[in-house]
Amino acid sequence: MRTWDHRYDRPDYLFGTAPAAFLERHIGVIPPASTVLAIADGEGRNSVYLAQRGHQVTAFDTSTVALEKARALALTKSVTVRHEVGGIEDWDWSRPYDCVLGIFIQFATPEQRATLFQEMKRATAPGGLILLHGYRPEQVDYGTGGPPSRENMYTEGMLRDAFSDCQILHLSSYDAVIEEGVGHSGRSALIDLIARKPEAA
Ligand SMILES: C[S@@+](CC[C@H](N)C(=O)[O-])C[C@H]1O[C@@H](n2cnc3c(N)ncnc32)[C@H](O)[C@@H]1O
Repeated sequence: MRTWDHRYDRPDYLFGTAPAAFLERHIGVIPPASTVLAIADGEGRNSVYLAQRGHQVTAFDTSTVALEKARALALTKSVTVRHEVGGIEDWDWSRPYDCVLGIFIQFATPEQRATLFQEMKRATAPGGLILLHGYRPEQVDYGTGGPPSRENMYTEGMLRDAFSDCQILHLSSYDAVIEEGVGHSGRSALIDLIARKPEAA
């Protein structure tokens, strides 16, 4: 299996330089000048967009090749993003952010996902937002992006359970044609979640 560094080692941006349509659609839900943590941000299309919209963004990913491209993208757009090398396994989740963003982070197996969702909530400040965008199990049949592992995908029931201690502001399953570089291209089985962590635990 090719590593992420190999996948990203190409002249163009594997997932394009435009933000995920989900993020563009819901950008208004994030309060002005928020601190945002972008998990597994890849080549920076989402973190750079958030910075362009005036947010203070920290992003991490395990791929150093992707991070170099993310830094170059930020430079091109004249914005500052704190791009760090890091994995979900060793990230310091104790630092709180106004918003925690996970877009197409379905490399996480069910075991990793349980911990990851807990850590995402830990890294969200009281009253802060969690934005999650990914694939449903049907995506494996479409084969237009994402890992070929049904168990890594999300369902509404799974997300309702995992975020039952938060206020679910938006939860939606839908099919759409997306064109995000060669990495995500074609009809896709998508799912979106926007949840608010309670003010007081
Ligand atoms: C499908 S890509 C999505 C990238 C980005 N979120 C986007 O939407 O363009 C998944 C990303 O997860 C990163 N990744 C894989 N395993 C990881 C881990 N254990 N911790 C953090 N990032 C990881 C990969 O390097 C890759 O950039």
